[in-house]
Amino acid sequence: MSRNRILRAQILSCTAKPQGESGWFYLSDGVIVISDGIISQVGSFTDLKATIPADIPVEHFPDQLIIPGMIDLHVHYPQLEMIGAHGEQLLDWLNRYTFPTELKYRDKTYASEKAEWFLEQLLKQGTTTALVFATSSSESVDAFYEAAYARNLRMVTGKVLMDRNAPDQILDDAQGSYDASQALIERWQGKGRLGYAITPRFAPTSTEQQLELAGDLLKKYPSTYLHTHLAENRAECEWVSELFPAQRSYLDVYDHFGLVTDRSVFAHGIHLDKQDLERMHQCDATICHCPSSNLFLGSGLFPLKAIRETGVRVTLGTDVGAGTSLSQFTTQSDAYKVQQLQGASLGAMDALYLATLAGAEALHYQDKIGSIEVGKEADILRINLNATAILSERTKQSESIEDTLFSLMILGDDRAVAETYILGEPTRKSAITE
Ligand code: GUN
Ligand code: ZN
Repeated sequence: MSRNRILRAQILSCTAKPQGESGWFYLSDGVIVISDGIISQVGSFTDLKATIPADIPVEHFPDQLIIPGMIDLHVHYPQLEMIGAHGEQLLDWLNRYTFPTELKYRDKTYASEKAEWFLEQLLKQGTTTALVFATSSSESVDAFYEAAYARNLRMVTGKVLMDRNAPDQILDDAQGSYDASQALIERWQGKGRLGYAITPRFAPTSTEQQLELAGDLLKKYPSTYLHTHLAENRAECEWVSELFPAQRSYLDVYDHFGLVTDRSVFAHGIHLDKQDLERMHQCDATICHCPSSNLFLGSGLFPLKAIRETGVRVTLGTDVGAGTSLSQFTTQSDAYKVQQLQGASLGAMDALYLATLAGAEALHYQDKIGSIEVGKEADILRINLNATAILSERTKQSESIEDTLFSLMILGDDRAVAETYILGEPTRKSAITE
């Protein structure tokens, strides 16, 4: 297996948060040299043609666009099989569909089959890194890591912690969940390209003792992450204030146990107040915006503009199975529409940033993934702008790369992802089951 490759095509990548013309670049005839899975050269073909290695064939795709692999900062792998379950808001949806589904992942064979399937589907959609919920069973976590490790993927997951307010069969207990998480961290953290996230499901399904032990784990293993849900739904927020009457707010529950850090990712964060946002900013914690899920469960409209004005980091996630697509293009499109409903406008370059480099930054992986720059791992996508008749016709009318990118995020889906490269290796989309 050679991970040396030269790709010549159009190239687009963010290099920072886009501000007007800065923070991103576009090459209409660019070249990427990949040496042992790492980007060793990138630039215009004219500039680099004299220096690119002569012994590696140049694969030329003049009509196609290379962009960084997408990063999905909040998704549940066991919920892919129950995507699109009709008709409830969060708490009923969890009880009716989610918990019964997650029960099945106590069976390692079942979990392994579904983890393989999930990763195939994720790669097909062009997502190369994700922060992933498993279930409360260690088997579900091992199954996911084994599948991701075999494919050499940069992935983060962890055992879901939940010791109350769900069916007995999927509950753990505080000390047992600490011990199981510790064993999984020792087994997987830092193996290959894998990371570990300490994952309390959300405050209502954990006792104070469990949250306290989660805080202890985070301190004991400083290279792990904290991944949970926060302020997604109004009824959920009210429930949290009843369960934790001593805390000022939902965020304060997590903060009280040392769970709000610069390695913490909170899915949703729709219903937060100024004090919460100031605190998140102070801790450099991240909110993962999940627009498809918020629309599907009727959770609310994420105030992206106001939240960013506070300086809080924001990233993008699908939140499948409450989200209805694994595609980050579809998710960008939903994010755009959620902003439209609030009189704000999400630019295409900004949406690209949210789905790529912003996720890498939140995971402290910005020197490894999230953009097309020398020294980074070659987890990249080759996009076919002619994948569908409508996308093709629309992009032919484009007046700028921003315009093309915008059409892609509104009209694109997995059909536009011609190839997903992991460390420069094609994942052979043709071999992937539909
Ligand atoms: N809050 C607690 N668990 C879940 C979940 O599985 N999905 C979503 N969207 N929100 C949650
Ligand atoms: Zn979720």
